[in-house]
Amino acid sequence: MVTAQEIEKQKQYIEKVKEINQGRELKYFILTMGCQLNENDSEKLCGMMEQMGYIQTDEYQEADLVLFNTCCVRENAEDKLFGKLGELKKVKEKRGTIIAIGGCMMQEKHITDKIHESYPYTDIIFGTHTLHKFPEDLHKILQERKKLQDVIDIDGEVYEGLPIKRTSNIKASVTIMYGCNNFCTYCIVPYVRGRERSRHPKDILAEVEQLAQEGYKEITLLGQNVNSYLRSEQWKEKGLEHEGINSFATLLRAINRIEGIERIRFVSPHPKDFTDDVIDAIAECEKVCKLVHLPLQSGSTNVLKTMNRRYTKEQYLNLVEKMKAKIPNLTLSTDIIVGFAGETEEDFEDTLDVVRKVCFEQVYMFIYSRRVGTPGDKMENQIPEEIKHKRFDRLKALVESQIAENNQKYVGTIQKVLVEGPSKNNPELLTGRTDSNKVVIFEGQPELKDQIIELKIISEHMWYLKGEM
Ligand code: 5AD
Ligand code: SF4
Repeated sequence: MVTAQEIEKQKQYIEKVKEINQGRELKYFILTMGCQLNENDSEKLCGMMEQMGYIQTDEYQEADLVLFNTCCVRENAEDKLFGKLGELKKVKEKRGTIIAIGGCMMQEKHITDKIHESYPYTDIIFGTHTLHKFPEDLHKILQERKKLQDVIDIDGEVYEGLPIKRTSNIKASVTIMYGCNNFCTYCIVPYVRGRERSRHPKDILAEVEQLAQEGYKEITLLGQNVNSYLRSEQWKEKGLEHEGINSFATLLRAINRIEGIERIRFVSPHPKDFTDDVIDAIAECEKVCKLVHLPLQSGSTNVLKTMNRRYTKEQYLNLVEKMKAKIPNLTLSTDIIVGFAGETEEDFEDTLDVVRKVCFEQVYMFIYSRRVGTPGDKMENQIPEEIKHKRFDRLKALVESQIAENNQKYVGTIQKVLVEGPSKNNPELLTGRTDSNKVVIFEGQPELKDQIIELKIISEHMWYLKGEM
């Protein structure tokens, strides 16, 4: 755990930077790539920047501080980052903009080498384990105007108590654990985010209680592998427990008791760690949404083995059956990778088979992308891009036909909807989400924003439902 003194020191740097910036109307621009964990990190960075006297802008051309929070789970992100850095050169020459890059990609040496070489005007490079030191890094730049790289390879520590600026005032994400120990062979995360570290239950409870007091209604618990919360060696050795919380299941139950919170979600669990106590907790906790994200990755036992997922097709299907039996009205969403090394036509058919059998509410589909440094990248039997794309299109067609069919089941039902505000496409209408995370568009008074209301579903439109008060 990062010591209280260290956090105190960072708070002092926040004050020092604020003093330097005083009287100047400085602006910051932030671009966040990747998953909800990265978004949550960006909320923390925004919190720090605002306390240091910067105001957010959507135009990087007018920013005095530009921050990129990067992701490296799949390709494309690299090209995007380098493209943006190229564009920033002129802005920097004109305004003296400070450029800071953080996040997962900065833990990859071939990327930071390239930045030093081709984009030497970048001021700060910081990794996933040094995010809390951003105020200190920024202070150094303001004082010394020298380039700085603050990336460490050893696992970072959990820190508490720095500011945060939330993007919503009704839904909040709470990170419960950092890192991953699973080493799925396609995945870069364990290399860039380090080993599993759980936050102390008392800090999580305090954060959720505070959110409830501020009027937040929906909490999403985040981690690379949430259902191994508190399972890492560090915790087993210490035998720590707080008010009966010693596992993910007991954490869910404790959060379920917090008054004011009405909906609890979590991403992502791992099927191999989906123990009965977690299933029971979901079934019994009325606030826990009955939509569970259960990453499949592949439906083929062979491919799952080479992916190091540690479950078979049958075990996954049995788990789904067990969950459906114990949790009334359960719906599932999933992640699937198409075209992993060695995937045969037969293997791919197994994936389609599982999709047909489970009938997911939502499927996040990815084409396998080779990541430098992972075992998957070194496997010999890589699948040609053309085949990957063809399989992806076949999976997509199946998923879309299932979603259309599934949507029919909603028509005529009454759904609880958390109202988020005016619809982006048509500001005359309101938009919200059901427990199962479906978007619902409906006519209503703007005052309904931030409330959970009941709506009758009158029609379905592939990616959204239409509702009526
Ligand atoms: N290629 C494609 N998809 C990937 N994912 C993780 N690594 C890769 C990769 N190398 C997907 C997995 C994971 C989701 C967050 O991203 O499906 O669950
Ligand atoms: Fe990556 Fe697997 Fe860990 Fe998820 S569980 S972050 S896919 S290594």
